[in-house]
Amino acid sequence: MARRKIIAGNWKMNMTPSEAVALIEKLKPLVATENADVVFCVPAIDIIPAVEAVKGTNIGIGAENMYFEEKGAYTGEISPAMLTDAGVKYVIIGHSERREYFAETDETVNKKVLKAFEHGLTPIICCGESLTQREQGITIDWIRQQIKIAFLNVTAEQAGKAVIAYEPIWAIGTGKVATTEQAQEVCAAIRACIAEIYDDATAAAIRIQYGGSVSAASAPELFAQADIDGGLVGGASLKEDFGAIVNWQ
Ligand code: PGA
Repeated sequence: MARRKIIAGNWKMNMTPSEAVALIEKLKPLVATENADVVFCVPAIDIIPAVEAVKGTNIGIGAENMYFEEKGAYTGEISPAMLTDAGVKYVIIGHSERREYFAETDETVNKKVLKAFEHGLTPIICCGESLTQREQGITIDWIRQQIKIAFLNVTAEQAGKAVIAYEPIWAIGTGKVATTEQAQEVCAAIRACIAEIYDDATAAAIRIQYGGSVSAASAPELFAQADIDGGLVGGASLKEDFGAIVNWQ
């Protein structure tokens, strides 16, 4: 069974609600395709107008984060039920910027992954090594640990529906894309890790994206790799280039 590609934009902290609608209107015709799932992960305040703006299109709206509790005294946080009620289908979990600036850990990532599944949201679970870790030769060990903790208590059925984004931290926003071989090697290792935790069928079903300076130029070769099922795209998702990335073939 061929896995369907999934290409998601991560807008990060960009675009006011009115700018978000204008950008969606501009990108809508450019990202119309039947060959892949197309997702725009937008800032929380943009979710409601974004869901409205993509009605009748192939675009799914994702959140960039959520909290792992149902509701209550967690000032400033957004719950999974708030996301689903607003029409959100996907949620990025454990992006390296959240780990670095907002103290997220593998443990909070695991709690969020479990909560997302409980609410029928598809988590886009991020992992990735620093440049130091790569230079020390511990990339695969590090990623395996991140994956094993992120999937604690996640069932095989749930895991098969998850999306993993492999994003080397040194490649994010730097213009320094990982080589195709580096990206494929780690994505293959992630799939092998999922096979170890679960089974071959789950590993064959799960979709693994590469992220980190993906561009219209680098996407075709990356997406042609056996274990790369699409991309998580930051900077280039805010531009017309995203249309070319989505239509990489
Ligand atoms: P980038 O960001 O494409 O701007 O490198 C990717 C990401 O952080 O998801």
